[in-house]
Parts: sequence; C-alpha cells; structure tokens
Amino acid sequence: MPNLIAPTFAAVDLDAIAAFEGRVALLIGADGKLDAGARRVNRLTKGAIARVVEAGKLEDAKAGKIITLNYPAGMAATALDIICLERRCDALDARKAGAALGKALDKGAALLLAGSNAKPAQIVLGAAMRAYEFTPHKSDAEVRARSLTVMCAKPEEAEPEAHAFLAVAEGAHMTRDLTNEPANVLTTTEFAIRLKEMESLGLVVEVLEEAELERLGMRTLLSVGQGSDSPSKVVVMHWNGGEKGVKPLALIGKGVVFDTGGISLKPAAGMEDMTMDMGGAGVVSGVMRTLALRGAKANVVGLVGLVENMPSSNATRPGDVIKSMKGDTVEVINTDAEGRLVLCDVMWYAQERFAPVGMIDLATLTGAIVVGLGHENAGVFSNDDALCSAFLNAAEAEGEGAWRMPLGQAYDDLLKSRIADMKNIGGRAAGSVTAAQFLQRFVKDGTPWIHLDIAGVASVKSETMLAPVGATGWGVMSLSRLVQDLYEH
Ligand code: BES
Ligand code: MN
Ligand code: ZN
Repeated sequence: MPNLIAPTFAAVDLDAIAAFEGRVALLIGADGKLDAGARRVNRLTKGAIARVVEAGKLEDAKAGKIITLNYPAGMAATALDIICLERRCDALDARKAGAALGKALDKGAALLLAGSNAKPAQIVLGAAMRAYEFTPHKSDAEVRARSLTVMCAKPEEAEPEAHAFLAVAEGAHMTRDLTNEPANVLTTTEFAIRLKEMESLGLVVEVLEEAELERLGMRTLLSVGQGSDSPSKVVVMHWNGGEKGVKPLALIGKGVVFDTGGISLKPAAGMEDMTMDMGGAGVVSGVMRTLALRGAKANVVGLVGLVENMPSSNATRPGDVIKSMKGDTVEVINTDAEGRLVLCDVMWYAQERFAPVGMIDLATLTGAIVVGLGHENAGVFSNDDALCSAFLNAAEAEGEGAWRMPLGQAYDDLLKSRIADMKNIGGRAAGSVTAAQFLQRFVKDGTPWIHLDIAGVASVKSETMLAPVGATGWGVMSLSRLVQDLYEH
C-alpha cells in the first residue's frame, strides 16, 4: 500500500523542531493559546504563529481546513501547517483535522506537533484516509513516502491505537483501489486474484468457478455474466478470529466489474462510471482486509459475486425466465436490473452454507437511491430493528451517512409476474425499495438482514472530507466498527 501513511510516535522533543526538514504541522485551540510546541515554532519564526492568531485567522484552519505558511524563516521546514483543533476534541473532529493534514502532505516527510491533544491516533486515521491517491495509471506519478512523525504526550498509548485505525484505513484504501480500477484491468479474474492474495493476511479465500456455480444452481447470477468473455465467479473469504463453532456474520457484495446494462443497454453518456459497479464487493473485500489486519476477534465470512454485464449473442434477453438457486423463477424484464440477480444467488448460498447470525449485503444497486438520497447517505433496508439500529449507530459514530428506508408488502406486490414467480423490476415508482423487496424474497425467516444501497456513496464526483474525487470506501469504517460492537468482547 504505497499510499498509506507510516506514522512514528515519539515524545515531544522541542529541540528537534528547528532542524526538521519537511512539513511541520501544529494544533491550536480556538482560544488561540499556544502549547509548548507551537510556542517553540512561534519563537523560531519570530512570532509568525501569534500573528496568525491575532489576525483572527484561526477560523480558516477549522473543520478540515488548514493555514499553510510556506518556507518559514528560522526553521528548516518547507512548510508550516496550522490546524485549529481543541485539545479535548471528539474523534470525528480529530479526523477532520487529520484529513486537512493528509490532503496537504507531499512527497517529503512531515512532523505533527500533537502536544497533549486527546486524539492523536484519530488525527492520523484522518490523515491516512485523506492522503489516498489512485495513481497506478499515471506515468508521471511521484512515489510518495508518506512518512509522518507524531510528537505527542503519550506515544506509547497512541501507537497501538493508531495501528488498529490504520488497519481500517488500509481496508478502505483497498476498497477504493478496486472501485477506481477500470474494467479492462479489474476483470473478474483479476479481482479474484487480488482477493486470493489476502490469504497472506490469514484469511481463507475460496474461488468458486462457473462449473461449480452451475452445479450449485446459481442460474440467476450466471445469467448476468453469460454475455461476457470474463468468467463469472463467487469468492468466499473466511475470517475466523472468534470462537470456534460460533456462526459468522455474512457480508455479501455486488461485484459487477462493468455494467453496460446488457441487452437493455445503458445510454453512452456516463456509462464509464459503471466501472464502479463492483463497489459493494469492494467494500466487502476491504472490510475483510481490515478484520484480518486488526486481528478481529469475530467470525465473519465475506462473499462476492463477480460478473460482467455485457450484451452479446449469448446474453440474457428481456423476457427470459431464469431459475434461482433458491428455486424461485425470475422473469427478466430489464437486463440492466442485474445486481439483484447476482446478489440473490449469493445470499441464498451464504444462508444455506453458513446459517449466518446476520447478513449484510452491499450493492451499487439503483440509480433511484441517488435520486432519493444523493451522495450523502446510503439507503439502509432491514428486516431486523436491532441489527439495523446497531448499524445506524456505527455509521453515525464513523461519520458515514446512512438513512433507513421502508420495506412492505405493497412494494413486494409490484414484483408479481404473469408467467414466473417474480419480475426483476417493479416499475418507475420506488425503484430502490422494489429492488430491496426483490432481495428480501431471498432472505430466510429468522435471518437478520440489512441491504445497503451504496450507488450514491461508493464513488463521488467532488471530494469528501476523507477522500479525493472517485471511490470513497464508504462502509469500511462502519462495518469494522459494527463487527467490533456486536461480536468482539
Ligand atoms: N448499477 C446500476 C445502478 C447504479 C446507477 C449504480 C447509478 C451507480 C450509479 C444498476 O445495475 C442499474 O442499472 N439499475 C437500474 C435498475 C432499473 C433498470 C430498474 C437503474 O437504477 O436504472
Ligand atoms: Mn444495471
Ligand atoms: Zn449494476
């Protein structure tokens, strides 16, 4: 992970500040009082910091913003970054401050004077999240060292905490890498290879190939991929960090590596965005990576359905009737409503094989959720209030937008088919809800389930607090926390 910040924590050493070559960042509370580190910088720069405070400029260094003084006199530093953050800040404010720093980081080293700030590890998490860049296809990309020294009051406490947080950042980085990758690079085969590589972290990774999927009866999943030369696959990632014999939580991801719409072809404008249609599978992969890296004491199984939705003479037609693994038949009205056809077989397989304690699926499932909630919130659908509120709490604590949406019989009725057990689309009304209703038909009674429609949040066109333009990694932080909240004690 060349993008990932490698922090070193050390006790505050005021005498090391003057000679530090690189960026030097310092924190000042809104009251403008300088701590020992800031006072030293102020003295070295003949009062530059005090002048910023006296000019009333700290406002410009708050909530994700930063004031930079370049090539300060009196120091070897290339830049001074001033960030306004209270000593007793909460976690999300600390991350925002860190994000401002992470965005400013360049190829040189950086020193953060965190003094007695209460949340240095959270600052580092924010910096690590925001310092992400997707550069594998840029010929002139510089390799950034991302070295960050954090001077703080209790380095021995901050270090292990930051280690766990960086597991989350690394998982989110993986999600972003997968989601940003173009479809000619991230084929179903390449995706499976990248997941198989995670065995080195202690995950057990199985790749189910088409013949096996055929044998299992996953016809709806296969019907989506059959128009593509890329073979359809299901990858199962096992993390057994909990007690032996305890049933796992199942995470399920839509992994459509490219969605042309199939025979119900999408319009040309914007179709390139459909490289992110494997975003759900990307989140599941990133969460599994995080759980392994932080040695989570829980049993979690991640399953992703990897397919490419292409038109061809072999592609599924509108009007075709397909039998799912569950045995229910589906009349495919629109081949562009393919995500649900992939998920329903993987969800059924997960329940048959693992009888999970809970099941959470993630999918860039509907354009309708983007219309409804924009890019601020993922749509949350659930049959279980307890699991759902645990998730909503985790998402709120992590600052990832999530908004519960309804389910109900009247919506389900819209899926009735004249010739099969159901249609794959409802109609124009409540498109995200009817998509969720379709999925719920494949949830067994007694399986607590959440469906997360992440079409609006998986990849965005303007930067967010913790991510540049492009893939966000939405959900990795919330799901890692949910696993911790519910299953690790
Ligand atoms: N992958 C799309 C949904 C999507 C839209 C994701 C925009 C990200 C951004 C999905 O497969 C799809 O095409 N859904 C259709 C469903 C319709 C045919 C019922 C849609 O939303 O238009
Ligand atoms: Mn589609
Ligand atoms: Zn799709």
